[in-house]
Amino acid sequence: MSDQNPFPGENNTGHYWDGNLRELLNPIPKWWMIGFWISIAIFIGYTIWYPSWPLINTHFKGVAGWTAMNEYKEDMAKIEAIRAPYEESINKMSAAQILADDQLANYTVRSAKVLFGDKCAACHGTGGAGNPGYPVLADDDWLYGGTIEKIQETITIGRQGMMPAHGSRLSDQQISDLTKHVVALGQGSEDAAGKAVFMSAGCFACHGMDAKGNQMMGSANLTDGIYRFAPGGADSVKYTIAHGVNDASDAKSRNAVMPVFGKMLDENDIKKLAVYVYKLGGGQ
Ligand code: HEC
Ligand code: HEC
Repeated sequence: MSDQNPFPGENNTGHYWDGNLRELLNPIPKWWMIGFWISIAIFIGYTIWYPSWPLINTHFKGVAGWTAMNEYKEDMAKIEAIRAPYEESINKMSAAQILADDQLANYTVRSAKVLFGDKCAACHGTGGAGNPGYPVLADDDWLYGGTIEKIQETITIGRQGMMPAHGSRLSDQQISDLTKHVVALGQGSEDAAGKAVFMSAGCFACHGMDAKGNQMMGSANLTDGIYRFAPGGADSVKYTIAHGVNDASDAKSRNAVMPVFGKMLDENDIKKLAVYVYKLGGGQ
């Protein structure tokens, strides 16, 4: 063929068309070939070092002994090593002592966040923001008290406020006077007729002469304009007066049960949650 090659001496395949169109036989550039061999070497090295080739019932494990599971376990062990001293302190300390230690309190709040999301947020809302019928935990208004001890007690033994339904004991007039009075109390004033019923019907026995509530029994403070049973206002207040709270004799009674967590969670988790709730902003 070469004798017919119109381009003698040129490194071509001898195939040519249309006079001067021909296929050259240039070698692949050296840099490219070096890259090619290096990448093959890396590939082989990689499959020897790491788990790689499938075998019949298993796979080649690699000489480095690396597995994703081992790496995960090593990472977890590092995290555990950081957590262990904190967990040990929480174990030994009371919730009040944990609160007094800034670093430990911060750790506790962070580690209780998920727990709160799991066990508490369904009722109390994310971050304790509250839901209709469930008290806000992220404020300064407490039915049962906002000291760290009281919060811990609430979580451990549960709570169930009890207010009798007054619908059948009082006249419509008395109920609407009371409603006016309670709404006025929330706005910083009072209603004379309603105040008289407040005394004669015995509301004061639970809510106090000053209507500020009693944390021993969780009777709400009626003077702060914060309503435990949303949305507040005349209709909602009237409903509470008529049907009460947790009164089994009235089918429409409001339901307010804080479950007992003492048996569902261990003591450390309860301490953590108490610190978390306290730190939500409402502890006192
Ligand atoms: C099934 C719904 C429900 C769940 C779950 C629940 N709570 Fe409650 N919680 C309530 C209700 C209802 C009340 C109010 C009880 C009452 O009015 O007597 C309450 C009251 C409280 C109070 C007292 C508030 C105050 O003003 O004194 C605290 C503190 C509290 N809950 C914390 C928690 C924590 C922490 C968890 C998670 C471990 C939790 N709750 C889970 C329903 C729930
Ligand atoms: C036996 C005690 C008791 C008596 C008597 C009582 N209450 Fe209550 N009341 C409570 C308790 C406890 C709560 C809070 C319930 C809860 O949150 O679990 C409450 C809640 C309320 C609320 C809802 C407050 C809110 O924040 O939404 C109103 C309003 C109220 N009471 C008004 C009255 C009036 C008016 C009377 C008199 C007719 C009265 N109560 C008599 C115990 C009582």
